[in-house]
Amino acid sequence: MLWPKTATRDVAGQLVIGGIPVPQLVAEYGTPLYIYDEATIRAQCAAYREALARYYPGPSRIVYAGKAYLSVGLLRLVVEEGLWLDVVSGGELQLALAAGFPPGRIVFHGNNKSEDELQLALEAGIGAVVVDNHYELDLLERLLRDTRQYLAVLVRVNPGVEAHTHAHRKTGQVDSKFGLLIETGDALRAVRRILEMPGLRLRGYHAHIGSQVFELEPYVLAVERLFDFAREMAARFGVVPEEISPGGGLAIQYLPDDPALDIEAFVQTVAGAVQRAAQKARFPLPVLGLEPGRSIVGPAGVAVYRVGAIKEIPGVRCYVSVDGGMADNIRPALYGARYTAVLANRDGPADSVVTIAGKYCESGDVLVDGATLPEPRPGDLVAIAAAGAYCLAMASNYNLALRPAVVLVREGQARLLQRRERIEDVLQREVGAGESSESLAAVELPTPP
Ligand SMILES: Cc1ncc(COP(=O)(O)O)c(C=O)c1O
Repeated sequence: MLWPKTATRDVAGQLVIGGIPVPQLVAEYGTPLYIYDEATIRAQCAAYREALARYYPGPSRIVYAGKAYLSVGLLRLVVEEGLWLDVVSGGELQLALAAGFPPGRIVFHGNNKSEDELQLALEAGIGAVVVDNHYELDLLERLLRDTRQYLAVLVRVNPGVEAHTHAHRKTGQVDSKFGLLIETGDALRAVRRILEMPGLRLRGYHAHIGSQVFELEPYVLAVERLFDFAREMAARFGVVPEEISPGGGLAIQYLPDDPALDIEAFVQTVAGAVQRAAQKARFPLPVLGLEPGRSIVGPAGVAVYRVGAIKEIPGVRCYVSVDGGMADNIRPALYGARYTAVLANRDGPADSVVTIAGKYCESGDVLVDGATLPEPRPGDLVAIAAAGAYCLAMASNYNLALRPAVVLVREGQARLLQRRERIEDVLQREVGAGESSESLAAVELPTPP
């Protein structure tokens, strides 16, 4: 699925999402605009739920990886669809708590959680912390020393499995900042420490091998490694895992030729591997935890920009500049991510090959290199598919860009999830802006020599 489920063209050739022509949304909310299709998000959640019901006879849990895209309005859908939430920072945790997300359904990840973040997690009574390293155990030991609190933890094991994805998106190979290595004995020592700490309850083992992963075989390997480790822990310490989580990472389509991986095949493969491994280990079927992010929101999101300057360099290329770019989507500049673009305000033969450039001061600020479109003109609207994950989540104020508005569309209705950032939001943190005594207006200008 490249475009949201409800995407279509009306008789005027305008792109329509969730029953609303994109130019109509732009007239109300401006550009750049991120549009999320509710039907697609719900369908992706349902696909995970239904596949688990079909292929996994044990208990299961779908944990939405909020790092892909997080907002209060999105969390409403996550709750309604029965998903848990994975957060990776105090900020994400605070947004979830502010939204009223049930704390008992929150799982806290991260390779360098601070004492304050862990304290917040304890105070909130979250569902589980995924322990990534020994420093984190030192902090938890200190925080739990004088309390009667219990905290459920999973151990993030580095399974030493190579996922075939971009180096920046791999996490499960030996040389990684994430997780406790089995080979070095680090993972074993963490389990021993957890079992010795009265405030901690070991719930199970987690691994995450990477993101935008196209092959399913590495997941089977990761599950086998998790169970090998679990068997060793059972033999040494008599602990049987209640939960096994092989993380998230399922790839989505960004280009028409990308392989279309389906959630059903992914779940079937992972569920099969867990059942075989549990049987071999003579463990009862654990809770199977899955942590999808990109595959829930990625295909549901479309980014819309307005075309401005067009620069034709004869024999070289044509730059079509839009009013957004790397400040709202750094993925192309960060790791060469590729996207599919169309015009949203009109249709026609896609006979121009152009470079869609952002407006920010970096030559690498290119959103799509080699887009094929009807010849773009200033004022046209460009829509980029599969922009729902890791775009807004990594958005910045580079060049003091203001973060875009985000709308959720469904059956002809649009709901604003996040308003466009205002310059006042940005200036608010500036000491000396406006009327304060530190304003530069009070500085006497030096006279020129
Ligand atoms: C621990 C963990 N779980 C889940 C995810 C979600 O991955 P994806 O969005 O590719 O499904 C990530 C992202 O890298 C992650 O680090």
